[in-house]
Amino acid sequence: MIIVKSLSEIRNKIIEIKSNHKKISLIPTMGNIHDGHLSLIRDAQNYDSIRIVTIFVNPLQFDNLNDLKNYPNTLEDDISFLQKEKVDYLYIPIRDEILSDIDNSKQLPWGFNNMLCGKMRTNHFNGVFAIVKKFFEIIEPTYVFFGEKDYQQTILIKYIIENYFDKIKMIVCPTIRNSYQLALSSRNSRISKISLSETSAIIQALKKTCIDYYLTTGLKDFKKLYLLNDVCRTQYVEIHDERLLHQKHGIKKISDITNNRRIFIATYIENIRLIDNQSLEEYDNL
Ligand code: PAF
Repeated sequence: MIIVKSLSEIRNKIIEIKSNHKKISLIPTMGNIHDGHLSLIRDAQNYDSIRIVTIFVNPLQFDNLNDLKNYPNTLEDDISFLQKEKVDYLYIPIRDEILSDIDNSKQLPWGFNNMLCGKMRTNHFNGVFAIVKKFFEIIEPTYVFFGEKDYQQTILIKYIIENYFDKIKMIVCPTIRNSYQLALSSRNSRISKISLSETSAIIQALKKTCIDYYLTTGLKDFKKLYLLNDVCRTQYVEIHDERLLHQKHGIKKISDITNNRRIFIATYIENIRLIDNQSLEEYDNL
């Protein structure tokens, strides 16, 4: 695996790869590589391409300084994981260089700042938009890999592709869960072992209560059903039709989007913000 840091170096590598008529698979990450990332990296192996992973903790997408400060840094381990996976290139941008002429003032469609995580985290999606667009410009990938766990983020990537890079193909990989059924996330490493099972039980209970309520009443206002106690502070539990959700985020091409309902959850447990989502397709015939 070749590690590249400077902008001029990565640009030269891209020229070299393109001159050899190779395609590129890009897997952008913020490091703290876990099985969720590895599933994206492994999936990319099915595409005849050069695999490039990026590690960059993008300050523009954090609305909370503490969250940024506490973001786990495990670079040495990350490098050895990626080496074992035989990733071709690891690009670790130099902060000032990558952020120097970046613009995160773009007016995104309504949904990105008024729904789900966008509503809770001011400017989060503007920050993701800016860095991902920049990576797409620099790396010129054919394939890009993102996790279904960050469903609203996958809508943003669709938006970027639809508006700026119509040749790129996004591959959305299923959420990977640990033995407690918690969606894998770098933030999980901050949950104490003892409360992992408690955390999981809370999230499962929230999901189940809201789904049951919705299936029997058809009502989508769950606020009264949230578990309120010392360990858990829920931001939202919402059910959306996927196509409608995409439309509210300015996506025009919705014909290839399945039209299932999906439940979305964001909750703080031990002051750690966890998100999850799940298709309700299995309930469609009920
Ligand atoms: O999903 C993430 O880890 C980040 O949002 C991403 C896509 C790497 C952009 O910083």
